[in-house]
Amino acid sequence: MRTAPFPILVLLVAPLMASVQAATPADLLKGYSAEARAQQAGFTPSAQRGAAFYARTFGVSAKMPACTSCHTADPAKAGRHVVTDKPIKPLAPAANPERFTDLAKADKWFGRNCKEVVGRDCTAAEKADFVAFVTGGR
Ligand code: HEC
Repeated sequence: MRTAPFPILVLLVAPLMASVQAATPADLLKGYSAEARAQQAGFTPSAQRGAAFYARTFGVSAKMPACTSCHTADPAKAGRHVVTDKPIKPLAPAANPERFTDLAKADKWFGRNCKEVVGRDCTAAEKADFVAFVTGGR
């Protein structure tokens, strides 16, 4: 039974590593881009497309027609929730280093906000473009 300790060690250490590993906005951009490329060959993220998406009036919800409704026209500025009036910290990592460092958090809010504003889930391509935009291509 000389091989036994190895799988045990992996089982113990792997979840620990996963929880400690901090993501960067660049990691998230890479992940969304890879996902988008799997659906659309040759996809490259575009900060310009992300900017257009961010400013676009979808008109699905009268209260929150666009991302800018809560996040303001400038993602580097603090926003305010149109319904609850609660303050929202800036989306741009340059102004708020906590942004886009946690994939689960980013996905949770993409899920919620895209459904409300766009009326459906955002595609991986839209998420990649969005992150490229808020990070200013960095
Ligand atoms: C009704 C208000 C509202 C609108 C409209 C809105 N958001 Fe948000 N958004 C929030 C709130 C509230 C949070 C979470 C609070 C926080 O993290 O500061 C958030 C957080 C996020 C995050 C999390 C980023 C991170 O990693 O911390 C993303 C991504 C996001 N929004 C994308 C969008 C996109 C894309 C749109 C437009 C399709 C949009 N939001 C429109 C209120 C809104």
